[in-house]
Amino acid sequence: MTILLSVTGFDPTRWREALLKASPNEQIVLRPASAADEAIRYAVVWKQPPGVLANLPNLQAIFSLGAGVDHILADRTLPDVPIVRIVADDLTKRMSEYVVWRVLDHLRRGMTYRAQQTARIWNERLQPAAADVSVGILGLGELGRDAAEKLRVMGFPVSGWSRTPKALDGIRCLHGEDGLTEILASSDILVVLLPLTAETAGMIDDGFLTRLKRETPLGTPILVQAGRGGLQKDSAILRALNDGRLMEASLDVFEREPLPADSPLWRHPRVFVTPHAAASSDPAALAPIIVRQIAAHRRGEVLTNLVDPGTGY
Ligand code: NAP
Ligand code: GLV
Repeated sequence: MTILLSVTGFDPTRWREALLKASPNEQIVLRPASAADEAIRYAVVWKQPPGVLANLPNLQAIFSLGAGVDHILADRTLPDVPIVRIVADDLTKRMSEYVVWRVLDHLRRGMTYRAQQTARIWNERLQPAAADVSVGILGLGELGRDAAEKLRVMGFPVSGWSRTPKALDGIRCLHGEDGLTEILASSDILVVLLPLTAETAGMIDDGFLTRLKRETPLGTPILVQAGRGGLQKDSAILRALNDGRLMEASLDVFEREPLPADSPLWRHPRVFVTPHAAASSDPAALAPIIVRQIAAHRRGEVLTNLVDPGTGY
């Protein structure tokens, strides 16, 4: 049995080694050499080149190397086989670390103090308590729920927004268009952990940013975006930062990645940039999970963490 590993944008060596370590008896091929096409039963992919999965006659399932699957579904030639995404403690904890880190840094005025340090300014700023700073999380899935719970434990009043109704202890759960209006109008810090789908594409635009609160205990609202760059218009975020609708932003994802060198976001004094690194997929932690799923499927068990191609996540 052969597993096809197809990635774009990074060196697949660590993934190949981790898959082989977890599954020493299988063959891992990096390219679908035509002679081996019949042998390929599973594909493990990140942004596979379009068409690469189209003509594999015995392909049983496609596995994403990450939680998101927009990079797979963008290929219009996909065969009609199940798509499985990553749901794993390792990935979830990494994302919650990022969210808690960024929310606390903004709460404790990290940007202001770093600028003051550069200028050797000793000036204590007014410091609201976590209990007085509301956090809204767009996306209450595997990642959003864990981040919401960790922020709640730290004392923040937390609201979350999802497509379908939810009930979570200690979290104000909102959904639908009215729920979006409410969460935008009531969040001091807005965290985005949504998938990129036909419904969410481009939603963080001028109109969206104008629906945010006007005043917060920290000044004006703060945006923490680690969902997908396709959700946002970079230029709208810049406009909102420059006209005061946004006070600060932590951005892990961008319309174009890598973020072009001439993007003004790189040098904006109130923007914190990370290179799509909020929750990296660690091959050593995740390859065994993929391999276990493949083994279970071969024994006739059902696949879990399946993607609904209808909703796109
Ligand atoms: P998930 O479990 O599928 O959760 C997605 C959440 O978004 C769900 O709560 C869903 O609502 C909600 N949602 C989807 N479409 C919506 C819409 N149109 N309106 C309102 N809510 C909507 O996904 P996850 O595992 O939490 O991951 C979320 C995303 O994080 C991934 O898709 C990926 O893009 C991103 N990500 C980024 C990084 C990084 O390093 N930056 C790493 C990992 C993942 P329901 O609950 O009602 O279905
Ligand atoms: C990373 O962006 C992921 O989707 O896991």
